[in-house]
Amino acid sequence: MNQERGKFIVFEGVGGSGKTTQIELAKKFLEEKGLKVLTTREPGGVEASEKIRELIFALRDKNLIGPEGQMVLFFAARYLWLNSLVKPALAEGINVLTDRAHTSTATYQGFAEGGNMEQILAISEVVMEGARPDAVIFLEVSEETSIKRRAAETNGDPFDKQGRDYLGKLIAGYRKMVQESWGGLKWYMVNGEGTVEEVQARVSEVLRRIFETG
Ligand code: TYD
Repeated sequence: MNQERGKFIVFEGVGGSGKTTQIELAKKFLEEKGLKVLTTREPGGVEASEKIRELIFALRDKNLIGPEGQMVLFFAARYLWLNSLVKPALAEGINVLTDRAHTSTATYQGFAEGGNMEQILAISEVVMEGARPDAVIFLEVSEETSIKRRAAETNGDPFDKQGRDYLGKLIAGYRKMVQESWGGLKWYMVNGEGTVEEVQARVSEVLRRIFETG
């Protein structure tokens, strides 16, 4: 019997946008509908990529790496993650929900850090081959909400330590990507403001649309 391929859905947004919470709720929602779901994150998700994650953060923290170097390492981590985890799961009919993907490289290393967007797009085409996301759900929150929600966190990554300017660039970058359907992807912009339940209801509505339209 031919196994139907799982869907590959990316959750995007700045720190404090609620991705991590909403991805777990989305998993429950889809599992209640009888679907198989795997949640993962980037950079990381598998052992080798988690090691690259630590390396990127350490180099970034010490200002030893610019946007191109970061880009190469993020894609190296991504390549390993896609081939050892994501592609096999999709082939088995498992739906994969990920907290970030190459779309984050475009926003962070491209829009916010001034890296070359064409290069990022070109590498994405190569690395993402065979695992093109079916949808990107962008959780949109204001700068204020991001700052407020992150104030409660203790384990901020080096990108989270950047100032308000950087945050503004990220948010503007995401909006532009939604408008342009960056990467030829299907983007859904979801209002991430309000309570967990309110945002969850909005995300569920989008998931319904993604799974109904096939
Ligand atoms: P994480 O602690 O998972 O952050 P968040 O909760 O904000 O998702 O750390 C991931 C950080 O790495 C995040 O600040 C965004 C950054 N990042 C990039 O700069 N480029 C990338 O390609 C990816 C995947 C993440």
